[in-house]
Amino acid sequence: MRALVVYESMYGNTHRVAINIAAGLRATHDVTLVPVTQATQELAAAADLLVAGGPTHTHGMSTAASRRMAAETARMPGSGLTLDPDADGPGVRGWLHGISAGRALAAAFDTRLGGPALTRRASRSIYRLLKHDGFRLLCPPESFHVSRHNTLLDGEAARARDWGAMLGASAVQAASARGVTRPAA
Ligand SMILES: Cc1cc2nc3c(=O)[nH]c(=O)nc-3n(C[C@H](O)[C@H](O)[C@H](O)COP(=O)(O)O)c2cc1C
Repeated sequence: MRALVVYESMYGNTHRVAINIAAGLRATHDVTLVPVTQATQELAAAADLLVAGGPTHTHGMSTAASRRMAAETARMPGSGLTLDPDADGPGVRGWLHGISAGRALAAAFDTRLGGPALTRRASRSIYRLLKHDGFRLLCPPESFHVSRHNTLLDGEAARARDWGAMLGASAVQAASARGVTRPAA
């Protein structure tokens, strides 16, 4: 079975989480991992499982304005932040509008500040968009936590890997229950 992991990332944390999710998924799936800038409709159409994620900006998914603000913050002297190679691209929101699900499964994740969920988060909006596009969501949206200095908190990379492995196993189970099994390429 094929999985497509699509991520959006300004400072590299969501990218790192996506790499770990992809690693966990490889136990059960042939995995393609791409930033949203390289996520074509053809890749989406070929996937049995789509996993999409991005950073939480202002209680939800990023916007052009929030990405601009994030980039300006990183470019300030002494910010200590490095922009991800694909940070200047569009967000997951635009890409998710209008992709066709076929019979595919999906899951949503985000990164956000650690601590209690005081704010709404990007993964809930991603989850809703995927559902609207016709995907069957495998599990509730998941968040991975960063510090106020925008570094992934200890243990989150390993948790992302475990979450990817869990998703892969659930997807195999769901597909075999429906009789949908596409061989890996
Ligand atoms: C413009 C902006 C708005 C943000 N708003 C929120 C927020 O509402 N809630 C939250 O938990 N984190 C918020 N954050 C922190 C981001 O979630 C954090 O920078 C992101 O998870 C890091 O992921 P990345 O390294 O992939 O960009 C915000 C960050 C920026 C730049």
